[in-house]
Amino acid sequence: MLSQKMIDKLNEQVNLEMYSSNIYLAMSAWCSSKGLVGSAKFLKDHSTEELSHAYKLFDYINETGALAQVGQIDAPKSDFVDIKDVFHKTYEHELKVSKSIFELVDAALNEKDYATFNFLQWYVTEQHEEEKLFKDILDKIDIIGTDGRGLFMIDREIGNLIK
Ligand code: FEO
Repeated sequence: MLSQKMIDKLNEQVNLEMYSSNIYLAMSAWCSSKGLVGSAKFLKDHSTEELSHAYKLFDYINETGALAQVGQIDAPKSDFVDIKDVFHKTYEHELKVSKSIFELVDAALNEKDYATFNFLQWYVTEQHEEEKLFKDILDKIDIIGTDGRGLFMIDREIGNLIK
């Protein structure tokens, strides 16, 4: 059985994952409007992945007999400077999500809620992968550059990252 504190924190994480999904969907729309087809596809695919993160938490809360709640989700930013700005913001956002997951892990340990602590390990691993994914994209952007053909190559590379 979850404590009210854990229910509240897990529900906050559901909200953050849904917000993440909307952020990436808005980024996908911006990329699409700039003809960045590969990045648009990749970000839309990632938006779907974020929803699956939210649903996994939602199911866990419900399975314990608690009430999963969907709160208000803020509108994401919809304008960006360039492709580097987009992926810089994805990386920054993932660092924020990691921090939130680590706070949840801390709370589970403090509460001696070992079932939730165990459940959250999946998210700890996932955040490591997500930080690496977006850091690698930023490195690629720096190496290839975004002038002329560089931008075309970067966009194609990003599109090819879809699993
Ligand atoms: Fe669900 Fe990208 O964190």
